[in-house]
Amino acid sequence: MAEHPAYPVGLRLFGRRVVVLGGGQVAQRRLPALIAAGADIVLVSPEATPSVEAMADAGEITWEKRPYADGDLAAAWYALIATSDPEANSRASAEAERHRVWCVRSDDADLATAWTPATGTSAGVTVAVLTTDARGRDPRHTAAIRDAVVEGLRDGTLVAPHHRTRTPGVALVGGGPGDPDLITVRGRRLLAEADVVIADRLGPRDLLAELPSHVEVIDAAKIPYGRYMAQEAINNALIEHAKQGKSVVRLKGGDPFVFGRGMEEVQALAEAGIACTVVPGISSSISVPGAAGIPVTHRGVAHEFTVVSGHVAPDDERSLVDWPSLAKLTGTLVILMGVDKIGKIAETLVAHGKSPETPVALVQEGTTAAQRRVDATLATVAGTVRAEDVKPPAVIVIGEVVNVGPEPAA
Ligand SMILES: C[S@@+](CC[C@H](N)C(=O)[O-])C[C@H]1O[C@@H](n2cnc3c(N)ncnc32)[C@H](O)[C@@H]1O
Repeated sequence: MAEHPAYPVGLRLFGRRVVVLGGGQVAQRRLPALIAAGADIVLVSPEATPSVEAMADAGEITWEKRPYADGDLAAAWYALIATSDPEANSRASAEAERHRVWCVRSDDADLATAWTPATGTSAGVTVAVLTTDARGRDPRHTAAIRDAVVEGLRDGTLVAPHHRTRTPGVALVGGGPGDPDLITVRGRRLLAEADVVIADRLGPRDLLAELPSHVEVIDAAKIPYGRYMAQEAINNALIEHAKQGKSVVRLKGGDPFVFGRGMEEVQALAEAGIACTVVPGISSSISVPGAAGIPVTHRGVAHEFTVVSGHVAPDDERSLVDWPSLAKLTGTLVILMGVDKIGKIAETLVAHGKSPETPVALVQEGTTAAQRRVDATLATVAGTVRAEDVKPPAVIVIGEVVNVGPEPAA
């Protein structure tokens, strides 16, 4: 048998009985895919790991708390034999053979009648990798091949053209704070499939350089807006390109719905009858402080964090922020777009009761090579911003969490 290659096949296990013998690490690794396949899973094992037990508690599998007994495999379509008792494994695999049940054995691949491939999924495709024969089995190697293929499909370095027509439309993609590794897997895949990308100044600009030359990259800040507002001109550009049947990615910094005007674009597209997908992104409000060693919450220090826009001063009649109430909160205050107005903001917070000694940190260009952190207090922050020439984009963090991280290494 060892001389012949295994025959690859996809089992459709929905509603079909699958018996798993042994509730240890092997079962823990294999069960999620069997559950996802909709199999009717019976686990036979006196013990189980806490994760396997949780699957039984959640009703995802039926757990019979006892050792394997002859007859357990009689009604199964497929079996996974993974007890810690080699003798029980042999008896079970003999029973599987008798009943013609395909079975995987965790202790001896040579004696098994089926092998589990290394699998991964990307955008509705399952990649499964098997070695050709038992002698060549090298699970780490197959897993590495699987990783390379799945990763390549996800990040677009392995391009597999779709032969069915893609649905044109717009994807509003949150690109994260700037580091190209901090975009989501879905965002990166959509970017790799785009015909047109309309990008903001903030976000993972480095990813744009990797796009194939046929992709039209448009800088949102440079879209001429003549008699329109800039946002309207961006909406129109999205609509026009989508109407031409193109796949359009609107790449935004952070998350599209955190001070990103994302919903305005969603609404404009809906009014024009254009399909739109929204892909969340890692917001700078949490990730940029984190990248500079500041957690927005910390046990015993801050049980809340509030994210505020500082783009208009507290005394500006357009401001919708209740600064006097914010001054009374004990938690963390995170301010975006606040560098220009931080002097007025600090003054207002202190005037309404916040201690002038409250720690403040400004993190400029977070997660990029140019990241820098400047520390101050509410009393000193206006002067520090001037003296240190802190420039947007920066996230400002106000609160005791600023000081909870370890000192940076010298
Ligand atoms: C228009 S808001 C967009 C926020 C974005 N949607 C998000 O979720 O991160 C722009 C502000 O986000 C903050 N910001 C975004 N990326 C940043 C980064 N890499 N470093 C520091 N601040 C950043 C700055 O306060 C900047 O002025």
